[in-house]
This record gives sequence, structure tokens and C-alpha cells, in this order.
Amino acid sequence: MRRAIIAGTGSYVPEYRMTNDDLAKIVETSDEWIASRTGITERRISTGENTSDLAYEAARRTLQIANIDATEIDLIICATITPDSFMPSVACIVQERLGAKQAAAFDLTAACSGLIYGMACASSFIETGMFQNILVIGAETLSKTLDWTDRSTCVLFGDGAGAVVLSASDSCNGISAIHLLSDGSKQDYLCLPALPLINPMIQEIENQPQVITMKGQEVFKFAVRSIAVHINTVLEKAKVSEEDIKYIVTHQANCRIIEQASKSTKIPIEKFYMNLDRFGNTSAASIGIALDEMVQRGLLTSGDKLILVGFGGGMTSGAILVEWK
Ligand code: ACO
Repeated sequence: MRRAIIAGTGSYVPEYRMTNDDLAKIVETSDEWIASRTGITERRISTGENTSDLAYEAARRTLQIANIDATEIDLIICATITPDSFMPSVACIVQERLGAKQAAAFDLTAACSGLIYGMACASSFIETGMFQNILVIGAETLSKTLDWTDRSTCVLFGDGAGAVVLSASDSCNGISAIHLLSDGSKQDYLCLPALPLINPMIQEIENQPQVITMKGQEVFKFAVRSIAVHINTVLEKAKVSEEDIKYIVTHQANCRIIEQASKSTKIPIEKFYMNLDRFGNTSAASIGIALDEMVQRGLLTSGDKLILVGFGGGMTSGAILVEWK
């Protein structure tokens, strides 16, 4: 059976580390409050690189690890809510910089579930036989969307990019189950407005600030519920038991969300990989950054089964069960 395997991972984060103490100089907060409520101790913040710069570097490293030439890539999907521009897409900018001359390219918006949605699209394209190699990138410069006077949001996020290349394989490992959901009735939980509607036909202009707003406690409950639902669903779909899963890599939003999900699913917390302490919440980039770190640390060997779980604005959520190549 033709399946998509993860042929390589890569990531890139800006060099500048902003610690909780650095933030406490900007807004009324403290290392103690941020660390105890979220688990975050520092995040990377861009000092000039835009989303396409981070995406390009993560993509370049991914192709190097996968030993795939850019000209062999058939499609580039970039999941982002912070593109450099609506057009050109980040994916097209990366396509040109990589020299991926044969590749189609588009951006995808599913907030913090973006990498999972992107991998689900890529896996389907591969299974149908349409494409052989697909680069999926999650990249964000969330720092440009933050209200740096709002302590309830600006302490949570960071900038970065993570990527995977999915390739066709006739082996029985690779992606074996996917589950995606959305719930637009909860759209006000997390918002980031785009351009305001202004034209000569409109008299009254409603200007919303273009910054992230959030109903934190509602998001928390949604996230814990979603993680449990998606883990159980992909386990059932793949006919795999929880004991067979080596790691669960959720979107890295908050350690308390992950701890609560561990309790509610009764899956030991040791199986949930976390690196949000050093990167904060990097939205669509977080799962790719975590996965690449696991590879670099030598934590994954052939045959290991992983579940990747995303949840985010929209609200969107999704999971993928994958056997390491
Ligand atoms: N520093 C100090 N005090 C703060 C800060 C801060 N950075 N932020 C809020 N406070 C204060 C509030 O003003 C409030 O003070 P008050 O009681 O005097 O009014 C107090 O702390 C408690 O505020 P709450 O908002 O009730 O804090 P809560 O315990 O809910 O924690 C948090 C907030 C951490 C955001 C929590 O709701 C949460 O984890 N939510 C999940 C949301 C999340 O992780 N979002 C990430 C993006 S979404 C995504 O990735 C899908």
C-alpha cells in the first residue's frame, strides 16, 4: 500500500532569546507567574527575520537531512497565520529561494493545527499517487501580531519554524491514521483580524486592532478535550493500543494543558514530549520544532509509533498517527 513516510525534519528559530525576566521589564508580570501558569521560561523573538526567512531555513535543513534535492519536491505547503504578505504566499517565496522548480506551492491557515492539516493534505496527495515528495512547513513570526502591553497574551508566544518532508513509500509504516475537526461556533476564543473592510461604498469603518486576543480559560478546556478525543480516535482508526505509542507530540501551548490531557487520558506524562519551556507557543511551527528536536536528540528509532496532535484558533484540531521510518 502506498503511504506517506516522514523522510526528514528540520527547524529554525531566531537567535534572540527573550526570557521571562526580559518580559517583566516591558509588562507587569514575573518569571514566577509565567513559569507556574504556562511552563514557559523563554521564547525566541525575531530581530528582523520575517516568516519566509524562518520557513526557508527550516525547509533547507529538512531537505538536507532527507537527502532530497529541491528539484525533487512536487509541492510546498506552508502553514502560517503570520505570512509576510497575502500574496505572494510564504510557500511561493520559499519555492523560489530553494530552487524547487517543479513544485506547486500554497499557504494554509489552520492556526496552531496548521502543521497537522498540512501533513494531512500532503499524505492524501501522496496516497492518491499525485505527488511523490511534499515539503510541509509550519512557520510563524507571532511577535508581530502581539499587543506587547497585554500581559495575558504577549507572554505566551514565540517565533520559529519547523518542517517535515513527506515521501511516498510502499512499506507499511508511515502515516496510518488521520483525524481532523473544526468548530467555528468557538471562533471568538482566539482571534487575529486581517485587513479591515474599507472601500468607497462603506461609510462606517470598524477598526479592530490587528493583534491576537484570546479567551484563555475557554481555550484551555477546548485544548484538553481535543487532545483526548483525537488520541482516542487515531488509536481506534489505526487499531493500535496506547501502550504501543512511544511519544505523543502535541502543539506546545502550555504545560498545564498537556499535564491535564495526560491525566484525562491516563497516558503517562513521560510519553508527552515538551519543549515549550524554551520556545513558548509558536503556533503552526511548534510540532515541527519539537519533532526535529527529538530527531536531533536521537529519541526516535525505526518502528516507533507517534501521535502528533494540534489544536488552535478557528477552532481547529487534528491528529496523525505515524510509524517512524
Ligand atoms: N503576569 C501576571 N499576571 C497575569 C498575567 C501575567 N502575564 N496574565 C494574567 N495575569 C493576571 C490576570 O490579570 C488575573 O489577575 P486578577 O485575578 O487580579 O484579575 C490573574 O492573573 C488570573 O488571570 P486568568 O486569565 O484567570 O489566569 P489563568 O489562570 O486562566 O491563566 C492562562 C491564564 C495561562 C492564559 C490560562 O488561561 C491558559 O493556560 N489558557 C490556555 C490558553 C493558551 O495556552 N493559549 C495559547 C494560545 S492558544 C493555542 O495555542 C491554541
